[in-house]
Amino acid sequence: MNLSYEQLVERINGWNHAYYVLDNPLVSDAEYDHAFRALLALETENPDLVSPESPSQRVGASPIAEFKKVEHGVKMLSLANAFSVQETYDFFDKAAKELDVPPDSLAIFSEPKLDGLAITIHYDNGLFSYAATRGDGQVGEDVTHNIKTIQSVPLKLATNTPPEKLEVRGEVFMPKAAFTKVNQLAKQQNSKVFVNPRNAAAGTVRQMNPQIAAKRDLQFIPYNVGEYQGEREFTRHSEMIDYLISLGFRRNPHCYAFSGGFEAFTENYQRMEQLRDSLPMEIDGIVYKIDDLATQTALGFIARSPKWAVARKFPAQQAITQLLGVDFQVGRTGVLTPVARLEPVFVAGVTVSNATLHNMDEIDRLGLCMGDSVDIQRAGDVIPKVAKVAEQGEDRQPIIMPARCPVCDSPVIRIEGQAAFRCTGGLICAAQGAERIEHYASRNCMNIVNLGTKLIELLYSKGIIHAIADIYKLKLEDIASLDGLGEKSAQNVLDSIEASKTTKLRTFLAALGIPEVGEGGSKNVAQYFKNLPAIQAATFEELIQVPDVGPVTAKSIVDFFQDARNQAIVADIINAGVHWVDEQPEQAQPLAGQTWVLTGTMSMPRHDAKALLESLGAKVSGSVSKKTDCVVAGAEAGSKLAKAEELGVRVIDEATFLAELHG
Ligand code: IVH
Repeated sequence: MNLSYEQLVERINGWNHAYYVLDNPLVSDAEYDHAFRALLALETENPDLVSPESPSQRVGASPIAEFKKVEHGVKMLSLANAFSVQETYDFFDKAAKELDVPPDSLAIFSEPKLDGLAITIHYDNGLFSYAATRGDGQVGEDVTHNIKTIQSVPLKLATNTPPEKLEVRGEVFMPKAAFTKVNQLAKQQNSKVFVNPRNAAAGTVRQMNPQIAAKRDLQFIPYNVGEYQGEREFTRHSEMIDYLISLGFRRNPHCYAFSGGFEAFTENYQRMEQLRDSLPMEIDGIVYKIDDLATQTALGFIARSPKWAVARKFPAQQAITQLLGVDFQVGRTGVLTPVARLEPVFVAGVTVSNATLHNMDEIDRLGLCMGDSVDIQRAGDVIPKVAKVAEQGEDRQPIIMPARCPVCDSPVIRIEGQAAFRCTGGLICAAQGAERIEHYASRNCMNIVNLGTKLIELLYSKGIIHAIADIYKLKLEDIASLDGLGEKSAQNVLDSIEASKTTKLRTFLAALGIPEVGEGGSKNVAQYFKNLPAIQAATFEELIQVPDVGPVTAKSIVDFFQDARNQAIVADIINAGVHWVDEQPEQAQPLAGQTWVLTGTMSMPRHDAKALLESLGAKVSGSVSKKTDCVVAGAEAGSKLAKAEELGVRVIDEATFLAELHG
């Protein structure tokens, strides 16, 4: 099917409208991309064709040089605030008095107050002309380059009879999901994170490069009309909004029309407050407007805000309070997180007495000291955080990471190259119990197949297991009584615990989770010393003789076995029946000294293929180099295969691999 250029533009714009405005995708990504590429190809071949409404025209190629000033023909006003139902009611009661009508006769229209920034967009004869910020209400800044990138802003109004002039006013905001994404990316790239979606939206609109804005998923929702020259006549605000929606704009969710009595405002507020956290965007209140446009005109303005609309604000999201202390919480992996203990303060509907400080770098960044008072922020359903130091205390004391774990008193060390500090207690630290047991039971360790993470969490949280050896004391009824588990599955759990008792020394060693000692290290140590008593008695000097064991690992092993608590844990496990045959000298290793690389998808688990190669003496590496002896390429192998071919390294498929090994 051959579409004309105009038809192609119209089709893609239709799909965009369905996707970005109606949240109702009509085609697959692949079909969309295909059409978009066809459009770009047509435009490259015929530059004269390119129309301003083409979806390719959203993102300019280069940043703008400066923000041009724009004078607003109709002033952009702000709203008066109300902080209770009473204040809301009083606002309209006053208007009713002025109009000489009963207050509950007023037709009210309520809209969520979107938490972003006000933007005005001008359309000439149905085509996007320019967009500007509010600025001081009279003069704003031209931000056309960024607003054009917003997919819910039509480049052409969806009508055959466009008004000569239409100025659409509304809010540009960043949905919560987009905000999370933007900040995740910023963290990865070590760049500045935004405090909240409003700052993120404002920061994005007020920068020069449209390519950045295009990537940030901003949205636009209209709430008013500025200049208008057209044929249509409107009697109500809600009718005007319906008209804008028909032209292709997004609708503000959860708008309501009702008569302005006290109960109606109460009911509406409660409903919106409940809805708030479930909405995809941040809202900071509700805007109540008199729906009738003639009444609006009759009331007019006072100072910088209309007498026919008011913003009912949700309680403050921010509050200042005193820092009382900093606690260090030990997480399940042993990482210590500083948590601010606060003089309780009411923020956005909840009392906050703690806020995470993330890590020591964050404390540095905030410049926070004991004695300071802090600015607490709570955005929607997000956990409260310390935004900044509000005021420095008189007797400021630095906040210091404790040298010993507050839970188990083991030494705390800084994880190399990271902002995090970790308790070295491992098995003996109660905070790390569940994690340690999970590690012990996991596939690459004791492989207790039916004792998964969820079950361990459950048993641990109910206090049924505390230490590893408790696994071996589990009774059928302990497990069968848990939610959703019957006797049969409980018996399966017990059976797999029993089966796992026969193991290898190297497996047991790895399962203990000694810091720095993974699968490879455990294997080398087990092979070198052959039995557990020898490892337990090994000195630092002996340990560094083991292949691939450096001073850090050696010290970690010595520290571990020197601690009487660890000795007791190991003894308990062995007493429970865990056993192995001491390591034997290695059998013939035909691949000794060779380096192999596994890539692509193989039918046998990657882990098993690796174990097989290692049992034959090969080293298995993650990257291809000149030193690689052979690459096993499974299905859809990519860059590693290409690299091997480029370097002339031997490549075989999985079938050849298995045939050679078994042959
Ligand atoms: S009506 C003349 N409706 O709130 C009346 N404003 O505090 C113009 N806002 O500057 C505003 N959602 O940026 C209106 N549904 C809504 C709104 C809304 C957010 C913002 C807008 C305005 C500010 C006033």
